[in-house]
This record gives sequence, structure tokens and C-alpha cells, in this order.
Amino acid sequence: MASPSRSGAFQEAVDRRVERFTESVSFDQRLFRQDVAGSIAHARMLQAQGILTESEASSIEKTLREIESEIEAGSFPLRIELEDIHMHIEHALIERLGDVGRKLHTGRSRNDQVSTDFRLWVREALDRVDERLLALQRAFVARCALDEQVILPAYTHLQRAQPVMAAHYWLAYCEKLERDRERVADCRRRVNRSSLGAAAVAGTSLNIDRGHTAEALGFEHVSANSLDISSDRDFAVESVFVLSVIALHLSTWAEEWILWSTVEYDFIQLPHAFCTGSSIMPQKVNPDVLELTRGKTARVIGDLQTMLVLLKALPLAYNRDLQEDKPAVFDAFDTVEAMLELAEPIVAGSRLKVESINARLDRGFLDATTLMEFLIKRGMPQRSAHHAVGALVKAAMTNGKRLQDLPLSQFQELDPSLGDEVYEVLGVTKAVEAFVSYGSTAPTQVANQVRSWNDRLANGATERRTPAEIS
Ligand code: ARG
Repeated sequence: MASPSRSGAFQEAVDRRVERFTESVSFDQRLFRQDVAGSIAHARMLQAQGILTESEASSIEKTLREIESEIEAGSFPLRIELEDIHMHIEHALIERLGDVGRKLHTGRSRNDQVSTDFRLWVREALDRVDERLLALQRAFVARCALDEQVILPAYTHLQRAQPVMAAHYWLAYCEKLERDRERVADCRRRVNRSSLGAAAVAGTSLNIDRGHTAEALGFEHVSANSLDISSDRDFAVESVFVLSVIALHLSTWAEEWILWSTVEYDFIQLPHAFCTGSSIMPQKVNPDVLELTRGKTARVIGDLQTMLVLLKALPLAYNRDLQEDKPAVFDAFDTVEAMLELAEPIVAGSRLKVESINARLDRGFLDATTLMEFLIKRGMPQRSAHHAVGALVKAAMTNGKRLQDLPLSQFQELDPSLGDEVYEVLGVTKAVEAFVSYGSTAPTQVANQVRSWNDRLANGATERRTPAEIS
């Protein structure tokens, strides 16, 4: 079967090994819907420009739709001689329509065609990711009501640091996911530019209308430089970067919950439908989904690396290397979409083991910093208060006590004017209540944040406070 791209210039048939090495249909078949959409838009534009007749454009559209249904149904044979999905579709069109089919590629090259299809695919995929991010945010926000009174230890250096409301924890992830959504939206703007009509590299001498196709395909802008856009893959790198950051966030969450689900922490019960067992140890309920969320993050970062190295030092404009962009981009999307799909039911279906958490909240001196700030409020310089509380912690630790167990006389050694009010900031509950700053874990602050997140997720609006609004 002769490939439509082999012109009369060739003196011999292509070597079979070359076909095997250079084909892309094994992976770019995923672009068939976008290819059909792009080709229909192109044909209708050619009609509007008087290059195709109405009946030619209509039979092209009808036949392309038939081909699309056949590919969808799995009844359309794919063969490497035809290199990629774009050639397959055009070849089938020509087989069915003869000369009319031979007109479709007028004023177009596979270079701008591939780029257009790929942009359409990435645009849809970004929208799916955004929906999944939103669903995960909803799951975290729903947890806030469920865990309303729960206090958790917050860690720095994985050492117990300060007490926080559980909702503060959940909203921390909502914030991260919100930045992910901002990045998705921002990246989408650069994806959503039309390259169709840039042709091979320099544009075309035919009277095409690039605005027409751009509009039909829902692109926001028409790229202004054919030499630039025919080989531009910034949008693809960027989308994989955006996915990498999402994966990083998910890996942090996964790692945290893996730890929390251990006997050592005993903070969380993961839903058993999302856990796996061991073939030898009958007692095991393993967090494999979380582990693979952590593990598959490596693939996504690898895909980003692939994209960056692929593009490094490529001369303008199209080079065949660019074909290698698709496996990396598809893999990054597939991986992150699967991670998000599982994260949502795990977040929704897990339960904090409140008794076990509470039983050890008094350990680790989570209230030490609040005590220090209490002394600062009474006029003690920060460094002195830091030192003094450190000494109290040492004394308490030596005797296996908590700060609130120390007698008043011991506090009065720091400041003879101290009275019983010192006990008002000791213990995790009181320590949490002592917080006041914007963005802190103060229960009123957290309640406001929960309310604002519920509103935001209900009406889709993002909220950002300016410094003036906070002061
Ligand atoms: N299969 C190729 C790809 O996906 C098609 C490129 C066509 N352009 C070319 N000049 N050979 O990138």
C-alpha cells in the first residue's frame, strides 16, 4: 500500500524496518477524534473560501464521520505502512472518495495538522484533569465537617511541632490543588491557540482563512508566526509540568497517609476497597494505591524530563523527533488522571482514628510555642522566652510530665508575677484556641476558611485576599 506521503520523487519502496521504526500510529491513534474534527473544520473553511464546493465538503465531512465511527467501533484496520493516524484517515477518505478525498490536504501540512490535533487532545485532557481536581477538593472540604472538632499534631522535620485543626490539614491540600487548577487554566490558554494553516513551515500561497478554522475548533487565538507554531511544543511541556506538580502534591498526601495508616501512627483507617493484601502475611492490609501514587509520580517526572530533553536544541521548525512527544504526554495524563480518580474515594472513604490520635496528643509538647508566645505577650523578649520554655520542656521531659502538669511555682521562676492564667494556654485544645493570625489554625479562622471553601466550590469562584483586606 503506497503511503500518501510518498510522492513521485522516490525511486524505490521504503524498507520495512524503516516503517517499523518510524511509525506512530501505534500511539497517535488516540488522536483520531481530534483529527476528524480538525479535518472537517479545514474542509468547511476550504468550502467557504471557494476552494471546495459545498457537495465536496459535505461528502468529505460525511465520510470522515463514517471513518470516525469505524475507528471507534474497532473495525478500522491500522497498519504501520500508513505511519500515523492522520495518514490512515486521509488514505481511507481517498479510497472512498477518490479525487474529492485528494483535495482535503489543500493548504495544510501534517505538521500543522498534528499540532492542531494534539492541542485539541491536550485541551480536553486538561479539562478532565481540572474536573478531577475539583472533585478531590470537594472530598477534602467534605471531610472538614466530618472531622470538625478533631485536632491533629502538625509536623516539621517529621517531628511533632504544633497542634492544628484537622480541617486546617484538609484545607492545606485544597490550597495546593487550587494552585494546580490555576496552573491548568493558565496552561490551557497557551494550548488553546490555533496552529492550523501554518502548513509545513511558512504558511501557504493558497487563500485560506485561519480565523475560520480556529473559531470552528474553539481556539481562542490564531498563532501569528508559522515558523514558530508549526514546531511549538511549549504547550505540551507545560502541560506535563503542570501534571508533575499535581503528582508531587498527590505523592506528599500519599506518603503522609501511608505513615498515618501504620500501627506506629495509627491515625487513619483507609477504606478496604482501596487496600490490598499480602500473599504470605494474613494480617496485612496494605496501602498499595497510595504507594503507587507515590511511585507513579516518578513516571510523570520522567515524562517531563523526556519532553525537555526531546526539545533541547531542536532547530526550527518541524523535526521528526517531535513525534516522540506523544507517548510522554499521553503517559503523564493517563497516570495523573488515574491517581486523581483513586485519590477522591480514598479521601472520602477514610476515617480518622480520633481516640488513638487523642490518646497521644499530649505528647511532644505541641503547646510549647504557644506558651512562649504567652510570655512574649507579657513583655518577655522572644529569645528569652524561647530559652525559658525550652528549660521547662526539659524539666517536664525529665519527670515524664506535660507542661500543664508543672506546678505554678516552676512557671513563677521565669516570671514571679505569673498566675494561674498561664494554664489557659496549655494543653492542645487551649493552645489551638490561642491562635489568632490570618491563615492560622485558630478555630474561628478555620471555620471561616471552611465556609469560604464551601462557597467557592459551590459557585466555582476563587478567592484571594489582598493584604489590605486582611489588615
Ligand atoms: N507521524 C508524524 C508525527 O506525528 C507526522 C509528521 C509529519 N511531518 C513530516 N514532515 N514528516 O509527528
